[in-house]
Amino acid sequence: MKKARTTQDGARIYTRWILACYDLLIYRVLSPHVWRCDPQHFLDLYNRHMSDNHADVGVGTGYFLNQCLYEPGEVRIGLFDLQPNCLAFTAQRLARFQPETFECNALESIPFAGRGFDSIALGGILHCIPGNFAQKARLFDAIKPLMKPASQLFGYTILNRGISKTLLSRFVYFLLYQLKVINGAEDSASQLHAELTKRFKRVNTHIIGHIALFNASEPLSR
Ligand SMILES: C[S@@+](CC[C@H](N)C(=O)[O-])C[C@H]1O[C@@H](n2cnc3c(N)ncnc32)[C@H](O)[C@@H]1O
Repeated sequence: MKKARTTQDGARIYTRWILACYDLLIYRVLSPHVWRCDPQHFLDLYNRHMSDNHADVGVGTGYFLNQCLYEPGEVRIGLFDLQPNCLAFTAQRLARFQPETFECNALESIPFAGRGFDSIALGGILHCIPGNFAQKARLFDAIKPLMKPASQLFGYTILNRGISKTLLSRFVYFLLYQLKVINGAEDSASQLHAELTKRFKRVNTHIIGHIALFNASEPLSR
């Protein structure tokens, strides 16, 4: 019998060795050449929406945070992740900003009692989470303790439905799916948009290559 995918599957791969190669592999090779989305689009999203009081949920290596437009002392950064290696790697890289780190599963209400954040990034975490978008969207509810009424949410995720694929992208997707790095075979931008509009008044999603980029604000009371 096939074993169901677990939440841990989406974070297990990020060993220290993988993190050392991550930026090169993801942002020099896979993103531009396989997913056909230039990393500049992700950086533009950060530059548009990241505030001086920012939380990153699913931090990886902190690649875009490291390129943010803020100087040390100008910005509060909270790092939230299930994988301690990612938190340690990113916290060290961003040491000049003295980030706050929190180990947590972002699918369960995050036990955070601190001051809320004005912007929250969910970059590349949704495609790690197993299940359909209705299940993945638990993350939008779980981050509520981090949010303020005027918080901006933004992020990106790899899709597998409703996009144009190449032979190479089909092959790499299959490989990463088998390795349980990607856990969303049915993911589409329309499902993402539907789950966001259940929770936020203002929602933008758009597709570049295999990737959905999104931002949302004005949480609806549910
Ligand atoms: C693909 S990486 C994205 C990293 C980075 N944001 C970027 O854009 O390059 C996904 C990150 O989400 C984290 N993650 C996966 N599932 C998680 C969960 N359920 N709760 C918290 N973090 C999770 C992983 O540990 C990893 O740091």
